[in-house]
Amino acid sequence: MSQILIKNGRVVTAVDDYYADVLVDGEQVVQIGKDLEAPGARVIDAKDRLVIPGGIDPHTHMDMPFGGTTSADDFETGTVAAAHGGTTTIVDFAIQTKGESTLKGLDTWHAKAEGKATIDYGFHMIVTDMPVERLPEMTKLRDAGVTSYKLFMAYPGVLYVDDGTLYRAFRKAGDDGTRICMHAENGIVIDEIIREAVADGKFEPKYHGLTRPTRMEAEGVHRAIAIAEVAKVPLYIVHLSCHDALEEVKRGRARGVNVVAETCPQYLLLDQSWYEREGFEGAKWVMTPALREKWNQDSLWQGLAFRDLETIGTDHCPFCMKDQKELGRESFTKIPNGAPGVENRMSVIYDAGVVKGRISLNRFVELTSTAAAKAFGLFPKKGTIAVGSDADIVVFDPNRKETISVDNPRTHHMNVDYSAYEGHEVQGWTDVVLSRGRVVISNGTLETKGGGQFIKRAGVGELLR
Ligand code: URP
Ligand code: ZN
Ligand code: ZN
Repeated sequence: MSQILIKNGRVVTAVDDYYADVLVDGEQVVQIGKDLEAPGARVIDAKDRLVIPGGIDPHTHMDMPFGGTTSADDFETGTVAAAHGGTTTIVDFAIQTKGESTLKGLDTWHAKAEGKATIDYGFHMIVTDMPVERLPEMTKLRDAGVTSYKLFMAYPGVLYVDDGTLYRAFRKAGDDGTRICMHAENGIVIDEIIREAVADGKFEPKYHGLTRPTRMEAEGVHRAIAIAEVAKVPLYIVHLSCHDALEEVKRGRARGVNVVAETCPQYLLLDQSWYEREGFEGAKWVMTPALREKWNQDSLWQGLAFRDLETIGTDHCPFCMKDQKELGRESFTKIPNGAPGVENRMSVIYDAGVVKGRISLNRFVELTSTAAAKAFGLFPKKGTIAVGSDADIVVFDPNRKETISVDNPRTHHMNVDYSAYEGHEVQGWTDVVLSRGRVVISNGTLETKGGGQFIKRAGVGELLR
């Protein structure tokens, strides 16, 4: 297979920062050093650019049936958009149909992704019920490379499971050396608050935010940590959105519970006032947890800097305004929950984090790639640049500025008719992307489509070979 030589770049990982050339042979990095030569290799000049590990987005929902419709990006469009934004691996969520085998759910998601993806992907399994007789399936999932599960305290009647189910699944996941991801929000109480709002004739999108108090997220986080502590399983709180919930994570970690938490760009950059936009526009940001009061953002940035928050996923779950978000025009309760973002993550976090001086360059790499690789059994094949690791590499221009817009062909490749960051100016842009040694994006243009593979992930604390 052919060689690629990335020359003159500044190589940045979660811990390193130096100038060097990187030689790729086939799918892997084979040499890093000064003034490397490789006759016949394709040369990529990375002068004045950063050479960083491809982004890992541990939280996406491609082709997901939800809220009476299906998320607008499938594995074809969503992974191309992710690649444009500098992400080379996603961990998406397969779903168990309630009452059916989780293994059948996995087959369904393999069929959705196989042959379509441009970047590599793994699956978490969303567990919607877990009677005792089905527990052995979890070991089979682990052996198939699905080493994490998501369970929901939210969405009663849809994805919600009770505390007994949580405990059973937590115990088994812990015994198997796998990880639990938790959507931690008290959906039962929230449904009562929603019922009160609807009875009072409150139907506009802004009531999505007003019916989901941060205390109900904090309660869910507290409960999930307590159950994980007793069940002895490593826990991962997904899409943590607010100060109150973060305080619960800090308390759990302070007493030694193995809990890692993820936040998302939307909670760091957008806020509850977005729901006040004219007419139905607020529907664009109807997602769960909801956008919060702006002051929460300072706590989240501090959590990222001080390592109480360890990863940044997008929770990419796009629904078009036309025909999809519109399902909720008469009532916020019917707006499909979710927003697009897989393409925007690296640039908006680089800009708001590194350029604005909130996090270091190394921490940026750690938060957007390395930490997710370590949490989800992808390291060191993914999440770093080292001899022997997959050549998932981004050549990133730290100076280039762009204005994100659905109408800007350089900034929007997601299959959705709006951008959650419309008009947002960023500094920091993805120039070139290698996915396992294939040049997928070059000068911001798609060069190679397809070729993404399912990655069988390792268990918690194991290295992926
Ligand atoms: O609103 C959201 N977050 N939609 C996707 C499903 C989930 O809860 O992650
Ligand atoms: Zn969720
Ligand atoms: Zn999600």
